[in-house]
Amino acid sequence: MSQNWGDKFSARVGFFKASAIRQLLSLVNDPDVISLAGGMPDPELFPKEVIAEIAKDVITNDCGKSLQYGPTEGIKPLRETLIKMTQEEIKGVTGDNIIVTTASQQGLDMLAKIFIDPGDTVIVEAPSYVGGLQALQSFQANFVTIPLDDNGIRTDILEEKLEELKRKGIKPKLIYLIPNFQNPGGVTTTLERRQKLIELSHNYDVPLMEDDPYGEIRFEGEKVPSLIELDNVGNVIALRTFSKILAPGLRLGWIIADREVIAKIGLAKQSADLCSPSLTQYIADKFIRDGHLKTYLDVVRPAYRVKKDAMLSAIEKYFPQEATWTKPQGGMFVWAGVPNNIDTDELFPEALQKKVAYVVGSAFYPHGEDKHHMRLNFTLNSPEIIEEGIKRLGNLLKTKLS
Ligand SMILES: Cc1ncc(COP(=O)(O)O)c(C=O)c1O
Repeated sequence: MSQNWGDKFSARVGFFKASAIRQLLSLVNDPDVISLAGGMPDPELFPKEVIAEIAKDVITNDCGKSLQYGPTEGIKPLRETLIKMTQEEIKGVTGDNIIVTTASQQGLDMLAKIFIDPGDTVIVEAPSYVGGLQALQSFQANFVTIPLDDNGIRTDILEEKLEELKRKGIKPKLIYLIPNFQNPGGVTTTLERRQKLIELSHNYDVPLMEDDPYGEIRFEGEKVPSLIELDNVGNVIALRTFSKILAPGLRLGWIIADREVIAKIGLAKQSADLCSPSLTQYIADKFIRDGHLKTYLDVVRPAYRVKKDAMLSAIEKYFPQEATWTKPQGGMFVWAGVPNNIDTDELFPEALQKKVAYVVGSAFYPHGEDKHHMRLNFTLNSPEIIEEGIKRLGNLLKTKLS
């Protein structure tokens, strides 16, 4: 006998949206398909021997802690390490400004939970990270989108929008930003625009949510100060993660923010998972304390630059000349635009037939409004496979030109 579940779910469930990326990826189970779709680090580069050794050590020597529940805000040694790392960037930060999370995705979910009531307005970049949009949407946020260009978010348009909302009596709750090597855009917000963002955040009294998983994966160009560094915590809530600088399987991240925000996140986290995994916290902490993080990043950065170069030169060689694409200085993605007569949603099944996959651009818009872009990942595959994948895609695109 089956229950009628429909009328039992909360109204909120009606706002949950499946990730288009996960749905598309589930179609890509043919081993002959070259997937440029996912957003995964190269597993060949994972520092597996070091992690295995540390795991053995923390389990054998201290299982009373590493296999035990831990404090909601994170285990003491990792918190000390994170505080020390953060103090190099932001003066005056203390333990009250930091909480460990079960990676950034939990951070996004908890921030949505503590800030968003149904119908609240949130400003997001367009395009933006699917998982961030999903988290905000599940708490019934209304989205206002601001376009990106090669210099990051268009702060001139943001200012006009904030003014327009103010005239209408609408005060946005948050501005959600991915300033470094944006997912999916691949672009980095300039220092000038970051300063403008801080100014707007103060003038209009709207907190900035700075989601920065990729900042440390810079393989070219100069580092730009983070929003939280520019504002000295202030109005900025910063999400950081070990997923791209160590391994996503650890499921660990941290949030830096004003103590009042951190305290509320702590309460939200108690009901979500009590604490993040103690085991992986001990592993991450020892990994950093023993100096392996720098060594690993020194391996990852040049390897990803080679892959990015392979992707850009293949795009130049095989894509139609009407196409556009970003030139990331770090991170994991290139955002490619195709002529207006090509709909990347419609093209997707044909690309799969040609044994290549990408993520449709529409997935990165709250209302699916862009049909002429695709996100291409360059970190997972080898340079040779990347070139072959781009060749398949380029040849397909050329058959569609009007
Ligand atoms: C912009 C952005 N934020 C957050 C996440 C979530 O990362 P995690 O939960 O693994 O820390 C991702 C993952 O790809 C991302 O690209």
